[in-house]
Amino acid sequence: MLRMTTPAAVIVDAAAYAQAVEDAVRAAAAYYEGGTSVLDDDAYDRLVRGISAWEAEHPDGILPDSPTGKVAGGAVEGDVPHTVPMLSLDNVFSAEEFTAWTASLSRRIGRDATRFDVGPKLDGLAIAARYSAGRLTRLITRGDGTAGEDVSHAIGTVEGLPEQLNEPVTVEVRGEVLMTNAQFEHANEVRTSHGGQPFANPRNAAAGTLRAKERVYTVPMTFFGYGLLPLPGTDAPLAEKLTELAHSELMALAGDLGVHTSAGTAVPDVVAEGAEAVLERVGEIAALRAELPFGIDGIVIKADLAEDQRAAGSGTRAPRWAIAYKLPAVEKITRLLEVEWNVGRTGIIAPRGVLEPVVIDGSTITYATLHNPADITRRDLRLGDHVMVHRAGDVIPRIEAPVAHLRTGEERPVEFPESCPRCGSEIDSSEERWRCAQGRNCHLVASLAYAAGRDQLDIEGLGGTRVVQLVEAGLVTDLADLFALGRDQLLALERMGETSTDNLLAALAKAKEQPLSRVLCALGVRGTGRSMSRRIARHFATMDHIRAADAESMQRVEGIGSEKAPTIVAELAELAPLIDRLAAAGVNMTEPGATPPPPPGAEDEAPAEGGPLAGMTVVVTGAMTGSLEKLSRNEMNELIERAGGRSSSSVSRKTALVVAGEGAGSKRAKAEQLGLRLATPEEFAALVAGLLD
Ligand code: IVH
Repeated sequence: MLRMTTPAAVIVDAAAYAQAVEDAVRAAAAYYEGGTSVLDDDAYDRLVRGISAWEAEHPDGILPDSPTGKVAGGAVEGDVPHTVPMLSLDNVFSAEEFTAWTASLSRRIGRDATRFDVGPKLDGLAIAARYSAGRLTRLITRGDGTAGEDVSHAIGTVEGLPEQLNEPVTVEVRGEVLMTNAQFEHANEVRTSHGGQPFANPRNAAAGTLRAKERVYTVPMTFFGYGLLPLPGTDAPLAEKLTELAHSELMALAGDLGVHTSAGTAVPDVVAEGAEAVLERVGEIAALRAELPFGIDGIVIKADLAEDQRAAGSGTRAPRWAIAYKLPAVEKITRLLEVEWNVGRTGIIAPRGVLEPVVIDGSTITYATLHNPADITRRDLRLGDHVMVHRAGDVIPRIEAPVAHLRTGEERPVEFPESCPRCGSEIDSSEERWRCAQGRNCHLVASLAYAAGRDQLDIEGLGGTRVVQLVEAGLVTDLADLFALGRDQLLALERMGETSTDNLLAALAKAKEQPLSRVLCALGVRGTGRSMSRRIARHFATMDHIRAADAESMQRVEGIGSEKAPTIVAELAELAPLIDRLAAAGVNMTEPGATPPPPPGAEDEAPAEGGPLAGMTVVVTGAMTGSLEKLSRNEMNELIERAGGRSSSSVSRKTALVVAGEGAGSKRAKAEQLGLRLATPEEFAALVAGLLD
């Protein structure tokens, strides 16, 4: 995972070198000013490495503008001088480069540097916050490192940077301002509703927002402190203390003063002894990256002790006592070639962007989700546009925004379908997500195959091809028809012998006994997947109770909010004839072990359920072994819920137990990080022994 990802760009002569320097300067200007660069981070790193390589061979030809020589971010003018320069960081891209860096650091300070602070490299903008007698008086951008721009107008919009510290001290707090993913979504919504262009990514959004002085609206941002230093007005004893404390101690102090740091996140800064421990932590942070609610582009490793920092000193551009271990970029710029419209099993018509293939973190990306038509309009996406594509971890790649200044005028508008691209029926465009008027009947094969799937009705012998066969023969026009299939009808089909026919009929008979949660899931109610179906079924216990529920009672189910509830109620009303026919065919409509909720007005809280996992939130990760080996993830979740627990897919402080099997990765790391209880599959099997069948 921690491989080198950015080979240097190859520069062949002085002219190419000059061009490269010019490109890099322009990209850096866009980066620090919050504009969108024509180069994504990866391309920029490659370019700078190429420039460095050429300069090493041609020391006499180095241009003064070169991004390797000066304080990064020199493009932005600022008029508030920094008391101490705001430096940048040098980068490493692999474990080998990091180890080489520690060796050079040790040589420089004349002893082994062993104590390091390791924390996330937050992907935002550096800012200095000046506090006078505990009061926040000024916010200054980094600017060219020696002087920055006064952005004090942003005071009050940056969470984590209190206007009043817990102590009346005079200090400068330095750190990164960014937008969390949620803040970014919100900012783009607000911006586009005011007629603005959406920002390409959270970083640009933070930069643009910070520097915009006269906005009619404000959008929140978040601050993470990573530096604490004295100002001219600081008391002498405090000033001295600030220069003597280790970095980790300074950050603890910043936290005590009320400043937000990485401490409360899933990736807090930690002190690591020796290069190996640092690399282990780098791996852990990298594994958690995709799940973080904010962007990081690497890990920052600092000599923790003040004396080590002093001995190492700083260059003009970067300190020698700290280094950024860059992680592979999760964003690249590529072109949007086409938009495809696909009809899902519930009839939703979803747009998907076809991209000029681009490699992000080792995978070639050719498609990215575009959410819905309104989203395309809001982002003003056009075919042929250069777009910023984001892909982190296993998440489906998404198109963030067009790079508007790269437009040539050749771009074409995205055409929206006028009728269902699958069956030609009308489109219901009354909601943001468009849907074929035929609903789930439009893509009958997909919806039946889903219903027959292992986590729903689990009908063995009813795979995709067989479903197609049944639909094409006109034997099945909806889910209920499956249960009316006769032996002779099946035998008349091609490739259906006596055995397959009897097996399929037996599987169908068995499917009728499935618990309500699975029947509900098989119906494919929009907005409810497997775990939501289970929660609804356990809450209401019978299909009759579910159908009797109005939006208000539906909201009593955990995880169903005021937006989802009416959709689910409406969907169930739409499905009523089908549900009636399923019930008439003998399909089970009750949830074993569940009790119906009390009628409205009676006792609100359902009585606490017993079981070995009562009240516990449990997360399963990695491969299950032993007696659990055969269980799908869904069946594991069902088991947890039968045992009185609640299954969840993400680890948080609220998680009571993490069942970690072989190959468990980031979730296990996070559980260890949070000090949560871990169990092997065997230990877990023992815990729920009585419930395993
Ligand atoms: S320490 C003198 N710690 O990364 C060293 N910087 O690419 C100053 N950054 O200019 C930086 N997270 O804006 C430090 N945990 C962190 C950081 C961090 C992000 C930024 C910072 C710096 C840039 C260099």
